[in-house]
Amino acid sequence: MPSSLLGKGAISIRNVTKIYDPEGVNVMAVDDCSLEIAAGEVCMIVGPSGCGKTTLLNAIAGFHSVTTGEIYLDGEMLCGPEKPLAEQGADRIVVFQHGALFPWKTLVENVAYGPIVQGILSKKEAHEKAEGMLTEAGIGDMSQKYPGEVSSGMARRAEIVRALINDPKVLLLDEPYRAMDALTKSIMHEALLEVYDRTKVTIFFITHDLEEAIFLGDRVVVMTTRPAKTKKILDVNIPRPRDYQVLSSEEFRLLVNEAKDAVHEEAVKAFEAGERELA
Ligand SMILES: Nc1ncnc2c1ncn2[C@@H]1O[C@H](COP(=O)(O)OP(=O)(O)OP(=O)(O)O)[C@@H](O)[C@H]1O
Ligand SMILES: [Mg+2]
Repeated sequence: MPSSLLGKGAISIRNVTKIYDPEGVNVMAVDDCSLEIAAGEVCMIVGPSGCGKTTLLNAIAGFHSVTTGEIYLDGEMLCGPEKPLAEQGADRIVVFQHGALFPWKTLVENVAYGPIVQGILSKKEAHEKAEGMLTEAGIGDMSQKYPGEVSSGMARRAEIVRALINDPKVLLLDEPYRAMDALTKSIMHEALLEVYDRTKVTIFFITHDLEEAIFLGDRVVVMTTRPAKTKKILDVNIPRPRDYQVLSSEEFRLLVNEAKDAVHEEAVKAFEAGERELA
């Protein structure tokens, strides 16, 4: 993978455990979870509902502390025993499901906003950079339009450009395309892959949609039922750039089935555990 030569955005999750303690009731969300993600990898995370996926993302982003274990970014410790809560930083950008653009700002103003408020670039520099990046993303001619004046595909593309303007090492996405219809989703995937093929930023992407996981991912990590640890890792050796014809290939179907079996096995365990608790 050429991007790994850049050595940017490698994540190392080592023996991470997270126990929440709401009102003295311990909830172990993640248990001794380890995972190595290469620089420039698209790593898809799947697993039963409530297993601890978001908890892991929040630990990487610095939204929540870890109880034990360490997380490293390019060899630098983000969090660990001395510092259980990672500092939030522009090197790890979270793309929220409803991380919508400011409707009262044009696309270029939206993209330029971050570096201006953080004092990283002057207004002029930020606008120039934003214009350049929007052009690279194929929507340069829309830069002066407001989000409401462009298609949803263009708006989403602008959102990704906005996430990338500070040249992050990692994009963290938590079910960003949940509840979208299949066609809109495919437009989102196209936009994300286009950006990825150009930037090779490391992507940590949580989803429940196994087809989405295989279509986008270099690897798909299936988590166990709560508390989360890695159950199975599937390598997706389908060459990039990928297009939608991949979906009907034998290789793709086999991978989806393998992921489905693994997730199903864990979902059944979660269900049975729930039944036991109720009994
Ligand atoms: N702030 C919190 N305080 C207490 N418990 C929490 C907190 N956040 C999450 N949990 C619990 O930790 C477990 C894992 O939650 P998490 O949100 O990480 O799961 P998830 O895999 O992202 O689920 P989903 O697929 O439904 O989004 C759940 O049992 C949840 O109820
Ligand atoms: Mg979640």
